[in-house]
Amino acid sequence: MNDRELLNLARDAAANAYVPYSHFPVGAALECADGSIYTGCNIENAALGSTICAERVAVGKAVSEGHRSFVRIAIHGEGENYCMPCGACRQVLAEFSGEDMEVLCTRADGRYVSYKLSQLLPHTFIL
Ligand code: THU
Repeated sequence: MNDRELLNLARDAAANAYVPYSHFPVGAALECADGSIYTGCNIENAALGSTICAERVAVGKAVSEGHRSFVRIAIHGEGENYCMPCGACRQVLAEFSGEDMEVLCTRADGRYVSYKLSQLLPHTFIL
């Protein structure tokens, strides 16, 4: 699967976002080491701190199905700026980031940027 195809899955996942507070839908498509894909969308809550980002929904789906090594994630958001993963999501992704996963981030005009997770979260905390 190429980058654009993974980004398209992230875009499709954003259609299910529950965002009555921010009105900012996000979708994620997570590729596991065996090639399987798990998607997620952001799920907001009236208690705002209980909101879950699209990336962590995708991670939860993948891990709960037995996957613990990820190679790439596409993140779809339609803001003016590239939709970068928040700090908490970077840390959660790092837990399962096999060989330094790729992170693809879109913006409204459809352009995207690509980083290695280690660029976004250097000197990662590990036990
Ligand atoms: N959000 C994500 O789902 N992923 C990100 O990478 C950044 C932020 C969500 C959380 C909240 O529902 C909305 O975007 C605005 O912060």
